[in-house]
Amino acid sequence: MTPAAQWRRVSRGNASHTSRGHYRPPGRQALAEQADRVFRELHGRAPEGVWSAPGRVNLIGEHTDYNDGFVMPFALPHRAAMAARRREDSTLTVATLGDNGQLQQAAPVALAELSPGHVTGWAAYPAGVAWVLRENGIDAPGADLVICGNVPTGAGLSSSHALECATALTLLGLLGVDLDGPGAPPRSEIARWIQRTENEFVGAPTGLLDQTASLCCVDGHVLFLDVRSGQREQISFDATEVGLEVLVIDTRAKHSHTESGYGDRRKGCQRAAELLGLSTLREVTPTGLGAALEQLPTELRPLVRHVVTENERVLSVAAKLRAGRVSEIGPELTASHTSLRVDYQISCLELDVAVDAALDAGALGSRMIGGGFGGSAIALVRADELAAAERAVTEAYAERSLAAPRLFTAAPSAGAGRDR
Ligand code: GLA
Repeated sequence: MTPAAQWRRVSRGNASHTSRGHYRPPGRQALAEQADRVFRELHGRAPEGVWSAPGRVNLIGEHTDYNDGFVMPFALPHRAAMAARRREDSTLTVATLGDNGQLQQAAPVALAELSPGHVTGWAAYPAGVAWVLRENGIDAPGADLVICGNVPTGAGLSSSHALECATALTLLGLLGVDLDGPGAPPRSEIARWIQRTENEFVGAPTGLLDQTASLCCVDGHVLFLDVRSGQREQISFDATEVGLEVLVIDTRAKHSHTESGYGDRRKGCQRAAELLGLSTLREVTPTGLGAALEQLPTELRPLVRHVVTENERVLSVAAKLRAGRVSEIGPELTASHTSLRVDYQISCLELDVAVDAALDAGALGSRMIGGGFGGSAIALVRADELAAAERAVTEAYAERSLAAPRLFTAAPSAGAGRDR
């Protein structure tokens, strides 16, 4: 099925730039109002409601999720908002407002025909969520969906998961299910359903990090998640309170082997676990690491070393944050980057230039985040050195003739919910 059946230009929202040139997304309510307004313009009547879900930054814990390890994301203020109304004909229509102010409408899809491979392109995300709800015995209704989002796309900040999580809340919401009310499926279960959407419908072999972050994060906190047990802890994370900022550096790079590189690492970890006779690499303890490495072929050793040491770094950051020692987590962030670059081999020039420039400019710590081979990096910087760090990164890119990165600061924001 071809998406993009039709294009229209509509009034675009109210993102702004701060005096320092930072991109600042429109507030949650402004985005919801925009989705509401665009819905009315397109469908000539009011939506029944608006739901939204955020993108994420992962503070630490990279490529640990599919190894049953620890992760520590926080939700971005950037969100995907979805205005919706039920339809009587068991058909899903989806329209999304692009960055360029153009409305893109996917071809309508009959719910009964939904199956993996049937819908491609961006429309596969909402369609895949309707499919997975039905697979789990929830009679997802036909609906008109209108999406307005401001999570940077292709930046490794989980714009697609924001869209999927917003869709799940929307379709459940249209059925009268309030996620925070009695009888609702737990958010962690919805995260697993969305992982299935990604793995089976969209065809991306991703783990649980992104959708759990979008669904379960809360304002002002990082989410410390033990993927093996499912145990979650919200740990307060207020960098600004101690004079720090989390600078997000969207490198705007996406290298061609992003998908294959991710899949290869994942398979390598599975293979290593099998050879060790374990169900996942989570079972390898730091003290058992040396012995485990000796049993493995050379090419698999660095993968295992990254996973085991990264889990330890997450635990160390969790302990420091619980003790309010936010300004002391820099070394773990930088060590994570080194491990991802040297052992996991998923960094790239753009990420390394960003991290090195930020560190040279005085950042307390810096690392790539997400799947790798492009996307974004973060740097923990002193607020009064933020401008210098930004300048350093921008200049380092210019010196190497790399396209200018997009920079913004981010504080932990709210997870998915109903807006109107
Ligand atoms: C991507 C995937 C996640 C996770 C990260 C790496 O974002 O979607 O499941 O594996 O990469 O930590």
